[in-house]
Amino acid sequence: MYEEKNQKQLIELVNRLTSSIDKLGELDVDDIRRSINFLDWRYYSISEPLISDKEYDDLFKRLKDLEAANPNLVTADSPTQRVARGFSENFETVAHTIPMLSLDNSYNADDLIDFDRKLRDILGDVPIRYSVEPKFDGASLALVYENNFLTRGATRGNGVEGDDITNNVKVIRSIPLSADFERFKINKAEVRGEAVIRKDIFDKINERRSAENEKRTAEGKKELELFKNARNTASGGLRMKDPTELEKRGLEVFIYQLGYADDGEGNNQLFQNLESHSESIELLHRLGFNVPYEEQAVLDDIQKVIKHCADWEEKRDDYPYDIDGMVIKVDSYAQQREAGSTSHHPRWAIAYKFKAKQAQTKLLDIEYQVGRTGAVTPVAKLQPVNLMGVTISSVSLHNADFIAEKDIRMGDTVIVERAGDVIPYIVGPVTKRRTGLEVEVQFPKNCPSCSSPLYRMADEAVWRCIYPECPAQNEERLIHYVSKGAMDIDGLGKDILKRFMQMEPPIISKIEDLYTIDYNRVLSLEGWKEKSVENLKSGIEESKNQDIWRLLVGLGIRHVGSTTAKMLAKKVHRLLDYRDWSREQFEDLEDIGPKVAESLFDFFNNEENVHLIERLGDLGVQIEVDESQIVETNDKLGGQTFLFTGTLERMTRDGAKDLVDQNGGKNLSSVSKNLNFLVAGPGAGSKLKKAQDLGIEVISEEEFFKMIES
Ligand code: IVH
Repeated sequence: MYEEKNQKQLIELVNRLTSSIDKLGELDVDDIRRSINFLDWRYYSISEPLISDKEYDDLFKRLKDLEAANPNLVTADSPTQRVARGFSENFETVAHTIPMLSLDNSYNADDLIDFDRKLRDILGDVPIRYSVEPKFDGASLALVYENNFLTRGATRGNGVEGDDITNNVKVIRSIPLSADFERFKINKAEVRGEAVIRKDIFDKINERRSAENEKRTAEGKKELELFKNARNTASGGLRMKDPTELEKRGLEVFIYQLGYADDGEGNNQLFQNLESHSESIELLHRLGFNVPYEEQAVLDDIQKVIKHCADWEEKRDDYPYDIDGMVIKVDSYAQQREAGSTSHHPRWAIAYKFKAKQAQTKLLDIEYQVGRTGAVTPVAKLQPVNLMGVTISSVSLHNADFIAEKDIRMGDTVIVERAGDVIPYIVGPVTKRRTGLEVEVQFPKNCPSCSSPLYRMADEAVWRCIYPECPAQNEERLIHYVSKGAMDIDGLGKDILKRFMQMEPPIISKIEDLYTIDYNRVLSLEGWKEKSVENLKSGIEESKNQDIWRLLVGLGIRHVGSTTAKMLAKKVHRLLDYRDWSREQFEDLEDIGPKVAESLFDFFNNEENVHLIERLGDLGVQIEVDESQIVETNDKLGGQTFLFTGTLERMTRDGAKDLVDQNGGKNLSSVSKNLNFLVAGPGAGSKLKKAQDLGIEVISEEEFFKMIES
């Protein structure tokens, strides 16, 4: 922490240096260094950057140049020394100054009350103040400072010894390379903390990897695996061989404990000059460390602690870092000493663990589910396990590749993770818990429903059943047909459908059977009354007049969702007119790529599908398009391409796109050299600029109207 007065001086210094950057010479080296250390602190420790990245980079470069020209000017705490050189082949093992103990865990209010009671048994009837902070979910490390300089960084390891990662910690900018401990008569200090990655930075790292994967896929290279969580990424980062790679992971360190402080003559300053943990945190904050300063609360009653922990658990998802609980520490050092430690954990501290986001459980079985398109999805059946209050017993394993890549075996113990509202997924097997009895997963060669052989397309990860009459596919198709997003048939849920399909003989087995249901049979079934049968019947009858786009969605054409279906519904008079369309005609439609065009073409050229639509038509289902929806088209725009930007005055954006379509033009969604006209209204911004740069013709809304009115 820089004092107010100091900060003012440093800000003035930064201003002077950045404005005279070209003239800086040897004499300024010390100032540049002080400035950069200060700027790092502003940026990484208090998140209040002072200057632009460019200015910072320029200043940094200046320092590097000056040091390169005068190597005798380089100091150990120079920010240039953060860029550690060379690769670490093996990390050396180093002993911690004093062992890094673990924490005992608590999971609920009773556990905390118990913790408080046990402390009172030792300390007697005295007031106890608790310091409560977030429990950062990252990788722990210890940093040693001697004569004010960072001399060593180490992982926690087994608590007694860890890996020497000094080169790596130097690239983490929230770790000061030097700190004025001596001012507090501390000659050697060891601080402990947790390396973490902020959630939004973690997401960006994965976004970057996805973008990189797109390139790799295009080049036919193997994709990079996305990082599963920030904790593993941070702990893997600390052990990276190349510190510049570690830099890309954006690690930050929160220091949560002053573990050791010595005056150089073996006197432990921790208990001499400092009275409490919260005082140490304050001191570390002032020395420029990133500590849970704002986050720390000192509370004088265990009930307050309980309430505070519950409040944090509520808002944990809003906190920028992953935390898996809170740490409660007796604040007074005197009381800490009196309480003492076991060989495993201090008696004066405890972790309050939030409901787990990850759990280990047994993989009992794998079920293979056949979807409506015939895709066979393996689903893990798990020993039920509670994750953040939800019991999980079944999790998708996606496809055969996923199982092979993760090396998941039958009988494995697996890690299940659930982040926020995200669907739970399997992180991987716990190989340490293997007994040798686990067996490799044999993906079926035949459809689990109809036994016909499964096929796999060259560019797909899934195995498919391609038998059109496959009962499982039929069931899924029917469920999809009646669903809310498709024909939206009231009173016909998944369970009822399944029951009807499983009767002997079935009440329905394919889509068209919906319209010839024997309602007397339904009435004879247990649980059905006149009223409910009536409701079912009217729901099915009403569905006959649904919008044609709903029927299109309901037919389950691959890659055709509601947006495409709505667009398709406006292009023809009768659904079956699409039988006469070529692939190219489909592809010429707005927003339809080759994959969707292919799928539509195949669908309408398949006799079974045509027959189904004809049958539905005969049964009274609307298969002709409402004439009012159809707009006659012409070729006034002759296939030219258009894009609209800025405010339009005579039409909406969608209306404008429709006009382009109706007049034989094409809509583009971004400015590129394929664009013929950019129609720009008031307020046009970056698109207009880009179009002008590319020399694309820019016209007004009025000019556009003239083109179609002529
Ligand atoms: S204090 C002796 N405070 O939790 C007490 N630990 O097993 C030392 N952790 O690996 C721990 N946030 O790295 C403490 N605010 C915090 C913490 C914290 C995370 C980690 C620590 C250790 C684990 C406890």
